[in-house]
Amino acid sequence: MLNVKNLTVYYGRALAVSDVSFKVNKGEIVAIVGSNGAGKTTILNAVMNIIPKKGSVFFKNIDITHLKTHRIANLGVSYLPDKRTVFKELSVLDNLKVAFYKIPKRGIEDFNKKLEDIFEHFPNLQEKLKLKAGYLSGGEQQMLSIAQSLIRNPEFIILDEPSAGLSPKLVKDLFNIISFMKHNKLTVLIVEQNVNKTIKVSDTVYFLKNGKIVDYGSARDFYDDRRIKQAYFGG
Ligand SMILES: Nc1ncnc2c1ncn2[C@@H]1O[C@H](COP(=O)(O)OP(=O)(O)OP(=O)(O)O)[C@@H](O)[C@H]1O
Ligand SMILES: [Mg+2]
Repeated sequence: MLNVKNLTVYYGRALAVSDVSFKVNKGEIVAIVGSNGAGKTTILNAVMNIIPKKGSVFFKNIDITHLKTHRIANLGVSYLPDKRTVFKELSVLDNLKVAFYKIPKRGIEDFNKKLEDIFEHFPNLQEKLKLKAGYLSGGEQQMLSIAQSLIRNPEFIILDEPSAGLSPKLVKDLFNIISFMKHNKLTVLIVEQNVNKTIKVSDTVYFLKNGKIVDYGSARDFYDDRRIKQAYFGG
């Protein structure tokens, strides 16, 4: 579904991402894990054509390397950046409505049905439906932005460190939601620092270090800690 080839990004003269290639097949959850400054956000911004890059990016066999960001979004890619924003002055419910009706030709019955699905996974939001989103905690706002993405039924979701800054309880909820995405055959690209939790919900994992992929494989192969340590600290 997504095919990234030989991605290289410089900030001025500094090399941030070096010759990175990866694929995300339909129905698969692919994770790129790496520590602070490894280049995770840079990869996502390059894929979405927010920053200049070398290399090529294909989505559903369409060359999107030079496509404008909003056009990439219109092809069915939902990108949740690390700095997530909700409409703070709108209620939780209206935030979800805005996200849902962004896609034309949708009826109120559809919305109510989708809302029920969302409640199942975001019980916190259900309790606070009438509250202005600005009054939610940072973590709750983060969950709301994920709910906004899901309610649109995207073909492909890109998540930049969704667990960052969440309480242990919300981290648990979040990974349950990602498991649910997997169960429902959604296609997801996730970048994370939370290695252990991320590999448990992923099919394929890539290890990124100093802008380079240093190891990758089936997520199961990394259930053994030693291989993770090797990817991180090994030569
Ligand atoms: N706009 C920029 N200008 C210059 N350097 C940048 C810029 N954005 C990022 N960098 C540098 O590029 C490298 C990769 O940054 P990036 O944000 O992609 O890392 P990351 O893996 O997302 O880290 P984190 O987990 O902290 O979000 C870092 O060394 C960072 O300092
Ligand atoms: Mg980042």
